[in-house]
Amino acid sequence: MARFVTALCSGIAIAFIGGLLFDILSIDKPEVPKPFICPPLDTAAALDRFRGLISFPSISNISREDHVNDQKVFRDMMAYLEVSYPLVWKHLNVEQVGESNLSLLITWPGSNLDLRPVLFVSHYDVVPVTPGSEHAWTYPPFSGQLADGYVWGRGSADIKFGVAALLEAASSLLESHDSGEAEEERDKAKDGAGGPFRPERTIMFAFGHDEEIGGSHGAGAIAALLRSRGVNLEVVVDEGGAVLLDGLSPFTHRPVAMVGMAEKGYATVEVTLRSPGGHSSMPHTDGSDIADQLWHLGTALKLHPTRTQLQSPVTDMLTHLVPYTSVWMRPLLKLVEQRPVRWLVGQLFRSFGGREVAAMVTTTLALTRIRAGVADNVLPQEAVLMYNIRLLPGQAPIDATEHLQRAVKFAGVNADVRLVEGGSSWPGSNVTSPNGRLFQLLRTAIQETWRFDDGQPPAVVPFLVMGATDSKHYAALSHGGVMRFVPYAMNKTAGDLGLIHATNERVRATSFSQGVCTYLRMMQLLAGSGSELQSASASASESGSGSQCLV
Ligand SMILES: *[C@@H]1O[C@H](CO)[C@@H](O)[C@H](O)[C@H]1NC(C)=O
Ligand SMILES: *[C@@H]1O[C@H](CO)[C@@H](O)[C@H](O)[C@H]1NC(C)=O
Ligand SMILES: *[C@@H]1O[C@H](CO)[C@@H](O)[C@H](O)[C@H]1NC(C)=O
Ligand SMILES: *[C@@H]1O[C@H](CO)[C@@H](O)[C@H](O)[C@H]1NC(C)=O
Repeated sequence: MARFVTALCSGIAIAFIGGLLFDILSIDKPEVPKPFICPPLDTAAALDRFRGLISFPSISNISREDHVNDQKVFRDMMAYLEVSYPLVWKHLNVEQVGESNLSLLITWPGSNLDLRPVLFVSHYDVVPVTPGSEHAWTYPPFSGQLADGYVWGRGSADIKFGVAALLEAASSLLESHDSGEAEEERDKAKDGAGGPFRPERTIMFAFGHDEEIGGSHGAGAIAALLRSRGVNLEVVVDEGGAVLLDGLSPFTHRPVAMVGMAEKGYATVEVTLRSPGGHSSMPHTDGSDIADQLWHLGTALKLHPTRTQLQSPVTDMLTHLVPYTSVWMRPLLKLVEQRPVRWLVGQLFRSFGGREVAAMVTTTLALTRIRAGVADNVLPQEAVLMYNIRLLPGQAPIDATEHLQRAVKFAGVNADVRLVEGGSSWPGSNVTSPNGRLFQLLRTAIQETWRFDDGQPPAVVPFLVMGATDSKHYAALSHGGVMRFVPYAMNKTAGDLGLIHATNERVRATSFSQGVCTYLRMMQLLAGSGSELQSASASASESGSGSQCLV
């Protein structure tokens, strides 16, 4: 009898472990949608319009009251857009917004005004070219040169690509309006490629003029305008991710489209150390000199780092990589939602992942400025330290301030800790869920319009955006959250990513027509009549499960 029980138990255990192993090792490959055939596009002409946009040195500048170096450049650029994309200005409602009217809000009214609009966000201001570095550019920074398979120039990748490709996609969809089809035919037609298109859900485009310096005059003003009109958005699509051609080492080498489902927050905290000072020929021996205090504070911060937290959307990124990763990596990624695995992977990321990966699992504190001392022979009485802080989703600037206050206490130094108030601090964003329909639709739009040599589309994977985008201004208006993705390809090995904001910023020329197609498809899927989202959101509002997209 006992032997029988033992055998039975072993059998059950083996079956259980086998099942578990099978479950861990098995993968459900997401279904690959059929390719979408884009309407014909005169690629050379479209590229020329994009390159023309790059030729405007539309530099935003935090030191100026109006946030730009030269208003005339922006006004000329807006006039250029109107001439280059005439169908948009003819058919859609174009408004100049902001104190100086330098940002654009473009509205394409849908046929059903009960549906919440979709907002596509981009910006046409750029960062300056570092003085003295002009000669190091292969092609002049505002040339928009087309060479070696790239479009070169400041703003090409960040992010006039988005502005030009969105306007091109809208123009392409509007062309059918202009080609004189009869009204009934238009109504009958579905949203097929090249067919007449009228959104059912309103589509809006918001192009800011000061995103690089926080966006308060541009996106901030547009968001305030939308709020004053009582607009409630279905979803916001902004910049943030791209298609990484060489994958995401060490998890996968196949191309991945990274969609930012959250972004880090931002704060600057000022720590002022105080000391008796005195003659530098006789430094204090009790540790009260600024130099000693700096050392103590630095040590305290090393001993008590911010918490390591592997959380959504980084966990979502890992689980979405499961079908594309090696068999060795698979169990780890698959189990990453389990608390001990999450803890382990978080520690691995922080300790061995390098700075890019460590920043995914921590709120980072970076000492960026130090101000102290008046003369070579005087001990400073004060040192002002500026810590730039990037907050994980769910954390607020006050959390970082408190962390520094605790470090000051632990270090036993004499210091004041103060959050630098003003427009330039905001909490880590909320996390948009990748389990909702909006992400599925975005994935479909991407996979339908991108195919590689092996006939496969890119993997589509959520991630955490390290920088800040204009979407922070719109997030509170959006019912379905924010997704941050620009449909262009970046080759990390070739150095494409490192060139953003740097010398030789550039973007792959072939990405442009592909990006236009992806945006066009996004507009169809997110706002077209009969699209999946329309019927879905109708039933969602009936059942009152409206906020399911946010966690
Ligand atoms: C920004 O504006 C300030 C004040 O007008 C000016 O001194 C500075 O040169 C400008 N920055 C750039 C990069 O042009
Ligand atoms: C901005 O545009 C509005 C409406 O067109 C106009 O009334 C206002 O004077 C403009 N403001 C500036 C600073 O150009
Ligand atoms: C996150 O969502 C909550 C609830 O919708 C909202 O009150 C809050 O302002 C949001 N936070 C951010 C940073 O957008
Ligand atoms: C990326 O760039 C590297 C180096 O230039 C090149 O060898 C590789 O083939 C490129 N990968 C893709 C997918 O284009």
